[in-house]
Amino acid sequence: MSVNIIVGAQWGDEGKGKIVDLLSEKIDIVARYQGGANAGHTVKVGDKTTVLHLIPSGILHPNTICIIGNGVVLDPVALMDEIKLLESEGIQVNGRLFISQNAHLIMPYHKLLDKAMEEKQGINRIGTTGRGIGPAYVDKVNRKGIRIVDLLYRDQFEKKLRLNIQEKNDIIRHLYGKKPLNVEDIVEEYLNFDRAIDQYIKDVSIYLNDAIDEGKNVLLEGAQGTLLDVDHGTYPFVTSSNPSSGGACIGVGIGPTKISGIIGVIKAYTTRVGQGPFPTELHGDEGDFLRKEGHEFGATTGRPRRCGWFDSVIARYAIRINGIDSIAMTKLDVLDKSEKIKVCTAYRCNDKIVEEFPTDLQLLDQCEPIYEEVKGWQESTSDIRNWDDLPSKAKDYLHYIELLIKKPIKIISVGSGREQTIFKH
Ligand code: GDP
Ligand code: IMO
Ligand code: MG
Repeated sequence: MSVNIIVGAQWGDEGKGKIVDLLSEKIDIVARYQGGANAGHTVKVGDKTTVLHLIPSGILHPNTICIIGNGVVLDPVALMDEIKLLESEGIQVNGRLFISQNAHLIMPYHKLLDKAMEEKQGINRIGTTGRGIGPAYVDKVNRKGIRIVDLLYRDQFEKKLRLNIQEKNDIIRHLYGKKPLNVEDIVEEYLNFDRAIDQYIKDVSIYLNDAIDEGKNVLLEGAQGTLLDVDHGTYPFVTSSNPSSGGACIGVGIGPTKISGIIGVIKAYTTRVGQGPFPTELHGDEGDFLRKEGHEFGATTGRPRRCGWFDSVIARYAIRINGIDSIAMTKLDVLDKSEKIKVCTAYRCNDKIVEEFPTDLQLLDQCEPIYEEVKGWQESTSDIRNWDDLPSKAKDYLHYIELLIKKPIKIISVGSGREQTIFKH
């Protein structure tokens, strides 16, 4: 029996999808624990690339059961589209996907409010994905939310929906000066929502706990990343959930005593999409080079990702916040052509050396990264499958990072393909 959490250790898009898919071969159940369709998890098998937004990245392994936990906010339209797309590609979802009855629904007014809020904030916007994530979590915490279980009782559902739309329309009209939503259109659309969704609804807490007691192997898949965590990230430039490992138990309904290990996924450099601080960000040619080599464009919104050097301050922070015990490092191959590679070892802040990440953004703003420069290996690593075959300078780079973060890098990814992976024993 093992229950491992896969958590993003930077600002999202670390390659969690690839790592979850890779590990799922020996896994019985993969469960997503937070976030929503703001996530874009890319899995590449052979020539086929699949981007998953809501469905866990274990779905491409036919014997793996996938679960969407109560911590996820679920756009039912996006969910059904994703299911249909996968099934049209020959991937069976029915019978292999279960959704917690307690997962909250994202409704059209959440998406509208998300976009209106961003528009109104102007230069102070967060740069959200516009998927309605923040407003849906607001309703959940405000005890106004509609859960997927409500879809089983359409009369009650209609009452809740009408109340919500009326309330949101007041905000849309008066606070944002926008045209209110048509109540009847939305009620009609959702009252007649595809009944096929019912078959996926389950008490997944019971299912998961029983499976763990029977000795099954489970992966808990995080979306986003530690630095986007609403409690531990660069607030307010964060998402509205807890991607950190602490969110995993809450998000699927199991206790912390069931967790066997926590794997942090981290890129060999750093990226971020949206606004907010990013100490090692590179502007100009160097940033453009990483973006081009790493194809750093958002899997959900297509936005160019901001790129920068590896930051060991945030890596150590993510290790502390999550209790990470081992690292999966992705995109080493993106550095293959670099003559010189910089690694941020600490920050200089008002003439002081800072080794712990400051969550006070005023202080962070005054921090400058301190870099150590290492020589690049300047040869391709994408076809390498064994640690011993890696160029010695690539091994030096990985050893240096291990020294800085004091955790072992056990998985090294050298390409987007499932097989482009090195397991370091
Ligand atoms: P996630 O959100 O953490 O699952 O990551 P994304 O899928 O949004 O972004 C990671 C991107 O990098 C995807 O396009 C992956 O196919 C790709 N990728 C993952 N691992 C590697 C790697 O080791 N090398 C390269 N070149 N690309 C990778
Ligand atoms: P995966 O799971 C990278 C970012 C957005 C924005 C902030 C808030 O693919 O790693 P939201 O729509 O959540 O309210 O936006 O969070 N963001 C992500 N960045 N990867 C993601 O997911 C993200 N999901 C949200 O760009 O800065
Ligand atoms: Mg992504």
